[in-house]
Amino acid sequence: MKILVIGSGGREHALAWALYNGGANTVLVNPGNPGTAKIATNMDGDPVEIAVSESVDLVVVGPEAPLVNGIAGQLAEKGIPCFGPSAECARLEGSKWFAKEIMTAAGVPTATGKLFKNQTSAIDYMGEYPDKFVIKADGLAAGKGVYLPTTKKESDGIIGDLFKGSLGEAGASVVIEQRLSGSEVSVLAVCNGTDAVVLPPSRDHKRAYDGDMGPNTGGMGAICPPPDVPFDFGDDVREKVILPVLNVMKEKGMEFRGVLYAGLMITEYGYFVLEFNVRFGDPETQAVLPMVESDLAQLFLFAANGEEMPSVQIREGASACIILASGGYPGSYTKGFKITGANETESLIFHAGTAEKDGSLVTAGGRVIGITALGEDLDEALEKAYIDADRIEFEGRHMRRDIGRTV
Ligand code: AMP
Ligand code: GLY
Repeated sequence: MKILVIGSGGREHALAWALYNGGANTVLVNPGNPGTAKIATNMDGDPVEIAVSESVDLVVVGPEAPLVNGIAGQLAEKGIPCFGPSAECARLEGSKWFAKEIMTAAGVPTATGKLFKNQTSAIDYMGEYPDKFVIKADGLAAGKGVYLPTTKKESDGIIGDLFKGSLGEAGASVVIEQRLSGSEVSVLAVCNGTDAVVLPPSRDHKRAYDGDMGPNTGGMGAICPPPDVPFDFGDDVREKVILPVLNVMKEKGMEFRGVLYAGLMITEYGYFVLEFNVRFGDPETQAVLPMVESDLAQLFLFAANGEEMPSVQIREGASACIILASGGYPGSYTKGFKITGANETESLIFHAGTAEKDGSLVTAGGRVIGITALGEDLDEALEKAYIDADRIEFEGRHMRRDIGRTV
């Protein structure tokens, strides 16, 4: 099969690697990175034009923005299967309130929430209890639209800023929901519009520093599966979350074909959905895909075409992905530092923010490289991943040392 992967991060490198499948398929990546260039052809330009001119059999979309902007529909017009949902379906990620309405209609456990279109009513609703609520910009905010304030001054400020346009259109409506506490788990489900194949659960570590301290990042590492999650968790989430959502969407005339990512919190009262994404997680994908033994290209093609999907074989054991980030990330950081040791590892190396300069590999982003290792259990996977993480060096390199050790 000839497959076009859209995106340029670690997630897309992992997708390209899994789809390349040791040479079974031809992979193009738009625009790609120096890592994807080793197994695929990187191509700049308009993704739909590339898909047409290269006569690809399938397009797999990494990031949410092209999906929300309707790339699946544009490809459908050209008769090219797209693994990634239509713009209508992508509203499950593009609007927190839309997701909440669908979940309510589907009977999916989620925090109670309310939609606000002006500052006064939002501030009144939260009253004197800022730490009982979470404030969310309704629209897409590149991971920046969720706030967990501790004081009233802080929460009033956040709401004021959102309605003043700090996040633009994304914050023109605000969802305020009940704050839950517990451990977080991500479940990625491959959907064909009516049915779902659930991949093994994973856990991302979003905070910048050890002990879950510091600012939120795109994700500093991931494990699969989290050892505290019950064996049949994925099946349960499929029954209680994914299939009911697919049903409600279908009743409304929307067939979701692509990855539905449920961000869940396991609380003392059971699990709740915190968010949906309509694409693979980053860095969850770098931990989850190496655990899948089956041919993902076939699975994604069947899903994209709305056909019956084969089940997937999952490896025994566990995987761990450690992210090496630029010093200063997620704040400002310097790019262009030489990276050494990336070719001397046994683990899988997934490039994220790297570039080639004068024949050398250099840093070019906040999250630079992900190192994924497999093991008989999580301890072994982590040990191997950290040995290789320590081999790859660049000035300012930062990694968390406790991936897989916190919930
Ligand atoms: P989201 O983008 O909606 O997943 O939110 C980002 C992060 O905010 C999540 O990974 C959680 O850590 C936190 N969060 C979101 N919703 C809630 C909630 N209702 N209660 C507690 N924490 C939440
Ligand atoms: N790792 C979180 C996300 O991809 O949204």
